[in-house]
This record gives sequence, structure tokens and C-alpha cells, in this order.
Amino acid sequence: MEQDHIFVKPIFTQEEIKKRIAELGALISQDYRDKNLLLIGILKGSYPFFADLSRAIALPLQVDFLMVSGHKVVSELTQDIANCDLLVVEDIVDSGMTWDALKKRLQKSPVKSLKLCALLDKPYRRKVNVEINYTGFTTPNKYVVGYGLDYKGKYRNLPYIAVLDQISAEEENLLYSA
Ligand code: IMP
Ligand code: MG
Repeated sequence: MEQDHIFVKPIFTQEEIKKRIAELGALISQDYRDKNLLLIGILKGSYPFFADLSRAIALPLQVDFLMVSGHKVVSELTQDIANCDLLVVEDIVDSGMTWDALKKRLQKSPVKSLKLCALLDKPYRRKVNVEINYTGFTTPNKYVVGYGLDYKGKYRNLPYIAVLDQISAEEENLLYSA
């Protein structure tokens, strides 16, 4: 099988993720207590983080989703976002190109505010400057999977975050361009 040579080594455990999300949820609950919070989940990668984070925020927020593929927004929102305080929920910020595209798209509407919450920050290969307002963890400069993040479409359902071991540097570069 194609995946036989792949091993996953946990770097952030379920317990660590749970604890960090509780902290982020408490912070966001404070910061948005008088606001009109609309959480926007970026699919597919943010789905476990989004579900857990949204339940850690003690406010009557709204939710919506955008599908992104290869740095491009490929779906529409289902509601009017004017006058909303948008908090975009991402799995990981790497080059910053996805956030750049999302920002341009969302700023076309007269939103009240637009901020970014990313589970993981991988700051080593930025192509554009990104200010992440809420960060879960900074990752090592490695390809990571689990808790929403995929390798060739798989491993999203791992309940922890892991690095892929025993893949060549060449293979790792290919993953980033996929
Ligand atoms: P950016 O546009 O380069 O900032 O990358 C954002 C997207 O690239 C993420 O939403 C992921 O889908 C993907 N990505 C970047 N690094 C990784 C990784 O280490 N594992 C899995 N996906 C990644
Ligand atoms: Mg991906």
C-alpha cells in the first residue's frame, strides 16, 4: 500500500489541544462580548477545531463556512455579513496566501471587523505578512497532519496533531504545492 512507509508522531496531544482551545475560547468570549460575532470556518481543514472552538465560546454567535482549495475561495457564504464581527477560523497559516485571498474576499462587504484565529502557525515560509489574532500553537517547520489537517486527503480525523515521519524532503515539498 502507498501509505505503508508513513508514520505519524504526535506533537500536540488531545489534552494539550483541549486545554489550549479552552483558553482561546475564554479570550474570544471576553473580546467579543459586546459584538456581533460570526465565526467563519474554512473547509475542509478547520472542521474539528471549529466545532471545539465554537463550543468553548460562551456567546450567542453565528456560524458560516467557506470552502478553500489551493489558496482560492471556491464557495459562497449563506448570509449577509454586513455589520458582523467576523472571526475566520483556519487550521494552519503557512505561506499566508489563503488568508490573503480570504481577506480580499471578505472585505468586499462592509463588515464591522475581520480577525483571524488559526489553530497552527507555521511562520517559516511566509510569502505575505499575516497578523494572526488568536493562535493555538506554533508548529515546527514540518508537514503536520491530524485534527483537520490532511496528507493526500487522509488523517484529518486523527484526534491529535502529528508530524509525518519518513517522508523525503522532495515528497514534503510536493505536499506543499498540492
Ligand atoms: P497557506 O495558504 O500557505 O497559508 O496555507 C494554508 C493551507 O495549506 C492550509 O489551510 C492547509 O490546507 C495547507 N497546509 C499548509 N501546511 C500544512 C501542513 O503542514 N499540513 C497540512 N496542510 C498544510
Ligand atoms: Mg489541505
